[in-house]
Amino acid sequence: MALETVIVLAAGEGTRMKSGQAKVLHSVAGRSLLGHVLAAVDHINPSTICVVVGANRIGVEAHVAEISPSATTVFQEKRNGTGHATQLALAGKSTRGTTLVLPGDTPMLTGQSLAAFLDAHNGGKFSASVLTAQHPDPTGYGRIIRDANDELLRIVEERDATDDERFIVEINSGVYAFDSAKLAGAIEQITNSNSQGELYLTDVIEILKNAGESVAAIMLEDFTEILGVNDRVQLAETAALLRDRINDQWMREGVTIIDPTTTWIDATATLSSDVTIHPGSAILGTTSVATGAVIGPRTTLTNCVVKEGAAVLESIALDTLIGEAVTVGPFTYLRRGTVLGDSAKVGAFVEMKNSTVGTGSKIPHLSYVGDATIGDGSNIGAATIFVNYDGVDKHHTTVGDHVRIGSDTMLVAPVSIGDGAYTAAGSVITEDVPAGAIGVGRAKQRNVIGWVLRKRAGSKSAQAAEASKKKG
Ligand code: UD1
Ligand code: CA
Repeated sequence: MALETVIVLAAGEGTRMKSGQAKVLHSVAGRSLLGHVLAAVDHINPSTICVVVGANRIGVEAHVAEISPSATTVFQEKRNGTGHATQLALAGKSTRGTTLVLPGDTPMLTGQSLAAFLDAHNGGKFSASVLTAQHPDPTGYGRIIRDANDELLRIVEERDATDDERFIVEINSGVYAFDSAKLAGAIEQITNSNSQGELYLTDVIEILKNAGESVAAIMLEDFTEILGVNDRVQLAETAALLRDRINDQWMREGVTIIDPTTTWIDATATLSSDVTIHPGSAILGTTSVATGAVIGPRTTLTNCVVKEGAAVLESIALDTLIGEAVTVGPFTYLRRGTVLGDSAKVGAFVEMKNSTVGTGSKIPHLSYVGDATIGDGSNIGAATIFVNYDGVDKHHTTVGDHVRIGSDTMLVAPVSIGDGAYTAAGSVITEDVPAGAIGVGRAKQRNVIGWVLRKRAGSKSAQAAEASKKKG
C-alpha cells in the first residue's frame, strides 16, 4: 500500500533536557535529533511529510525548512499529548494508503528498519502496527500488552501501568503505521482519562483492536535503534552508540581507525578506503577524506575536503580544502576559506584564513597568513606575518610563483610580491616588490664597538668579551 503521509511529532517541551533550545534541535553525530529522524524518513520516500511543532516553534520551523524543504509543519499550541498532536497533523490529510507516525527524538532509528517495518505492516494487511523492542531497562517507556496468544492488545504508559505490567520489557518505540482511513476514525475516539490528562496516540491501538481490527506489534532485533532522547544522559548515550555504529561502517568500508572510542565521525562526513585516522580525531560536518590520507592524532576537521594522500597531524581545520599529498601540522589552525594546492606544506604554529596556496608552496613555521594568494613553489620563511588588518579594514596580499619570503617578514597589505622575488629577513614590506627583485625593508645595522665593556663593566658578558679579546 502506498505510503501517503509521514507525521513526525516534535512539539514537546523537552523539559527533561533543561535547555533553552528545543529538544529535537539538540544534535548528535552532526545532525539534530529531528534531522536523524527526517534522514531515516527520506529513505522511505513518502508523498508528504508533516512535522508537528510547538515548543520553540520558530527555531524548529526554520530548521525543518532548511533540512527538509518539502516537509510541511503544523503548530500545536498546547501540548495535549501525542494523540492530540496526531489529530492536528491529520486534519485535511488524505485518508488513502498508509500513514506513518514517529517521534522526533529517536535519532538511532535507521531508514532500513523503517522500510522493513512498513513492509511487515503492509504484508500483514494490518489496520495498525507498532514498532517495538525488548529493552533491558524499560523504565519510562510505554509497555506492550499481549494476550495469551501473543497478539497485541494495547499499550500502557509506565505511569498508568500496574506493577505487573511494569515488569514487561517489550516497549513502544513511538513508531506506528496505520491504514490512514482507520486511523482517521479511531483518532477521534481517544480520551484524556489517564494519569497525565493527555490524549495518547497509543490508545488508538486498543480502540482499533476492540473494533475487531487487526493490530500488530512488530519487534526490532536491536533495541538501541529505538532509544528516545529525553535528557542529556540519553543524549550522550545515543551519541556514543551512533559513534560506534558510524565507525563500524567506515571500518567495514576499508578505513583504518586506530582508536574507535576516541574517533568521532559525523553522519554527514564521507571517507574513502585506505584512509587512516589516529586517536582523538573528529571528522565533522560535510568533510570528505580521500584515499590514502592520514588524519590525526587529535585533529578536528569541519566541512573540509581532504584529497588523496594528504596528512593532517594535530591540527584544526574549518571550511578548508587540503590538496593532494599536502602536509599540515602539527599544531596548525586553518580557518574558513583556506585552499591548499597539491603538495603544499603548512607546518607548526601556522594560522591561516581566506587564503589560497599554490602547488608545492611551503609555510613551514610560526606564521599568520590571512587574506592572501600565494603562487606555486614559493617558500614563506619562519615567523612571517601577513599584516592584513589596519584596525578598520582587511586587505589582500599577493605572492607570486617561486618567491622566497625571508624569515620574520611583515607583509603589510595591500601589497604584492612579484614572481621569483625575495624579501630580506626581518623586513617590513609596505611597497610592492617587482618580479625578480629583493625587497629590503629594515634599518641598516650599526655596531657600537666596546659598548658592553663601557656600559656593563664587570658583568659576565663583559668578562666573556674580555676573554674573547685575549683569545685573539
Ligand atoms: C512516548 C509514548 C511511549 C513510548 C515513547 C517512545 C505516548 C503517550 N507515549 O512517550 O509509549 O514508549 O514515546 O519514545 O505516546 N509530542 C508532541 N506533542 C505533545 C506531546 C509530545 O508533539 O503534546 C512529541 C514530542 O515532541 C516527542 C514525541 O511526541 O517527539 C513523544 O513525546 P514524549 O513526551 O517524548 O513521549 P514519551 O514520554 O517519551
Ligand atoms: Ca520521548
